[in-house]
Amino acid sequence: MGRYYAMFPAPFVTRAVTTFTAPGDVVLDPFSGRGNAPFVAAALGRPAVAVDIQPVAWLFTAAKLLPAQQPKRVLARVRAIERAVRPVDRRSRSRFETMAWAPAVRGFLKAARRELDWRNSRVDRTLMAFVALHMQDSYPKGLSNRFSPTVAHSASYAVRWWTARGLLTPPATDPVAFLTDRIARRYAFGLPAMAPSKPFLGDARLKLAQLTPCRAKLLITSPPYHDVTDYWNDHWIRLWILGEPLRKNWRRTQKHTNLKEYRSLMTTVFQRAKRHLRDDGVVLVRCGAKKRTAETCEQAIREAWPTKRVLSGRTRVERRGVASGYGHGAKVVEEIDIVAAPQEAADTVQGWTSGAESTYQKAS
Ligand SMILES: C[S@@+](CC[C@H](N)C(=O)[O-])C[C@H]1O[C@@H](n2cnc3c(N)ncnc32)[C@H](O)[C@@H]1O
Repeated sequence: MGRYYAMFPAPFVTRAVTTFTAPGDVVLDPFSGRGNAPFVAAALGRPAVAVDIQPVAWLFTAAKLLPAQQPKRVLARVRAIERAVRPVDRRSRSRFETMAWAPAVRGFLKAARRELDWRNSRVDRTLMAFVALHMQDSYPKGLSNRFSPTVAHSASYAVRWWTARGLLTPPATDPVAFLTDRIARRYAFGLPAMAPSKPFLGDARLKLAQLTPCRAKLLITSPPYHDVTDYWNDHWIRLWILGEPLRKNWRRTQKHTNLKEYRSLMTTVFQRAKRHLRDDGVVLVRCGAKKRTAETCEQAIREAWPTKRVLSGRTRVERRGVASGYGHGAKVVEEIDIVAAPQEAADTVQGWTSGAESTYQKAS
């Protein structure tokens, strides 16, 4: 649930979790994004501990790890939100709002933003995750005019783009019927039996220092990349539904442009993760192939676990670009996997690297 940057493919996490852990072992992801790693781990019977600083990421993760158990309660909240819509909610305050959402959708979104207690209530959070998922995705998959479902471009860019293509009017979707259908369809798959897991919203530097050691057997994560993605501003539309203003906020930028600060973040997080990893624990990090990101992560891992054996490998991942909603085609990206494991786990690591989609190049 939820498009996000650097989403872990489920088969990758499944293989990692089943290779390096047994049921009951704890799995830790300190930069969990939309939560694919903790979700897969929990569904495979491994309690997961997940941390992310981004409210949108946490929303999707928490909704997946701790979903409302009864769909009828989520559907009842859909109807309650519709009843809570005020005439003023349907009104547009900008060209962007007019072109992005039809009046009924706009009204529903504004009432949901005001009424849903997504931080504290499981039911409200589950519904909010559905709303956030579909509010920025084109018909028939979503409730908005044509949008990239991953990156939220600026309001002025979106208006220019829609205008140039004659997409002047958003789809007149009925939000209640649409969401009811989507929620029912998701729940029709059933809920997996999941190991009890904990998603935390906050800075991993602080959370990892505050939390009781979780004795993880596997730390699997994809850290933010150096100077690539602005996790705050690229999610400004979904952040709005969670209570932020409907605009980008350059003071909250999360692009990790400053290399010194980026290095300090990686070093601190891995140092603090150390007290959560068992002595026989394994670290598996997948990051962008940009030199500074990969080198920084590898160095931070080596410093945190000097006695572990570290390997890194390259992998080519073919996927649609984040801006594919705006007409760009498929692209191939290179990523790097870094594995740090105890010397005694050489056989397991050998099994992982030989069967991996990555080509592992060096060991030390
Ligand atoms: C590459 S994404 C992870 C994507 C994830 N693997 C998935 O499947 O969705 C990196 C994440 O790190 C988060 N992040 C950045 N700085 C952080 C910090 N100081 N503490 C916790 N999370 C942070 C970002 O919000 C982002 O969600």
